Amino acid sequence: MASSPAPRISYAQARAFYDRCGRWLDLQRCLEDAAFADLLAHADFADAKRVVEFGCGTGRLAQRLLARELPPHAHYVGFDLSTTMLRVSRSRLARFRARAQVLPLSGPPRLPLAPGSCDRFLATYVLDLLTPADAEAVIRQALRLLAPGGLLCATVMAAHSGLPNRAFRSVWTALHRLSPLFVGGTQPADARAWLGPGWRLRHCRLIRRFAVCSQVLVAQRLP
Ligand SMILES: C[S@@+](CC[C@H](N)C(=O)[O-])C[C@H]1O[C@@H](n2cnc3c(N)ncnc32)[C@H](O)[C@@H]1O
Repeated sequence: MASSPAPRISYAQARAFYDRCGRWLDLQRCLEDAAFADLLAHADFADAKRVVEFGCGTGRLAQRLLARELPPHAHYVGFDLSTTMLRVSRSRLARFRARAQVLPLSGPPRLPLAPGSCDRFLATYVLDLLTPADAEAVIRQALRLLAPGGLLCATVMAAHSGLPNRAFRSVWTALHRLSPLFVGGTQPADARAWLGPGWRLRHCRLIRRFAVCSQVLVAQRLP
């Protein structure tokens, strides 16, 4: 179920789409916050020292982590493709000064950081809009960047067998077929399919909000 043959959006289209979204993206909080709460409950952020986030968007989750979840000496580095998202997240995280940094990516998921340089790697609601090859590349980057024992923390839009979600998905899939741009390129996915060897699945749960379903996944990088 993870990889769909339907076309995905290009890097340029993703950048243009999220440049237009800007702060409006935060309106999705009513659909995402229950999944974020579950993620935070299962990823021991109180013990984290160095957090990397791929596709940080408006920096909403980073702000919460830095303000309320991480120890005061912990550092955060976020990456995004969209110029607007970089501006919004930098302004939102400015008050954390040297503890938070947000850096641009040009498209391909190559993060210019040293191996073993973080203990949490976040990718929320972004793997599900990438090509399967890029989603796997992000997971490989997580494997490279996480120190042994570190945690990959991901959420994706997911499928559920209940009637409301099936109805929601048929509308979503129809829109995606018309143009992936109508739905920001996102398609329901199962992030477990992208985990190669080197991971121990620690937590995987489906969380429903209204008709929308999210998968929350926490996987530990094996030594
Ligand atoms: C649906 S938003 C999710 C934002 C945030 N993670 C959240 O959960 O609210 C997807 C984000 O991923 C970014 N993105 C999409 N493709 C990307 C790529 N190839 N490299 C880096 N960021 C990307 C978008 O610009 C956008 O900010």
